[in-house]
Amino acid sequence: MPHPAIRIAKKSDCIEISKLVHAIFPKAHPSFSPNDTFFASELPGFGLVGFAHMRIFKSSVLLQGIGVLPQFRRGGLGKSLISYVIKWCEKNHPGQPLKLRVKSANLPALSLYLKEGFMLTKDYGKSYRLTKARPN
Ligand SMILES: CC(C)(COP(=O)(O)OP(=O)(O)OC[C@H]1O[C@@H](n2cnc3c(N)ncnc32)[C@H](O)[C@@H]1OP(=O)(O)O)[C@@H](O)C(=O)NCCC(=O)NCCS
Repeated sequence: MPHPAIRIAKKSDCIEISKLVHAIFPKAHPSFSPNDTFFASELPGFGLVGFAHMRIFKSSVLLQGIGVLPQFRRGGLGKSLISYVIKWCEKNHPGQPLKLRVKSANLPALSLYLKEGFMLTKDYGKSYRLTKARPN
């Protein structure tokens, strides 16, 4: 797998990002409000293959969604995206916890998050809240 380039999505990426989100989450309606930040993972020769969607709140940051196109999974792209996002949050929102909600049956995502240091902070039954606490 070639090395991905990860970057904050620009306004001009909106259409490509929307297509990507729909390909991975067909029912999703991504919002591009001022509180939303999208990260794009681009593979040379293939274009955008993965995204992460962050929503910034006053005292926390929510990982609203993350996904990699099916044909590019299991090659380390999900891990590189989440690592990038964690570092970005540490730099830009220091001390704020990074939260997400994941379906309890989504074992690939759960495994990825736990390996990246997230902890289960609330059990809703069919889904979990995971939090990555960060030092100030
Ligand atoms: C979750 C997702 C982003 C992982 O992306 P990926 O590029 O395949 O992940 P990576 O190759 O970087 O794998 C990193 C770790 O994730 C876990 N993982 C990924 N795919 C897995 C699978 N099919 N089964 C079990 N664990 C898996 C493993 O712990 C893996 O570490 P390892 O390679 O040491 O085993 C991808 O499966 C995806 O897009 N899923 C659909 C969208 C989704 O469910 N998003 C999360 C919503 S909360």
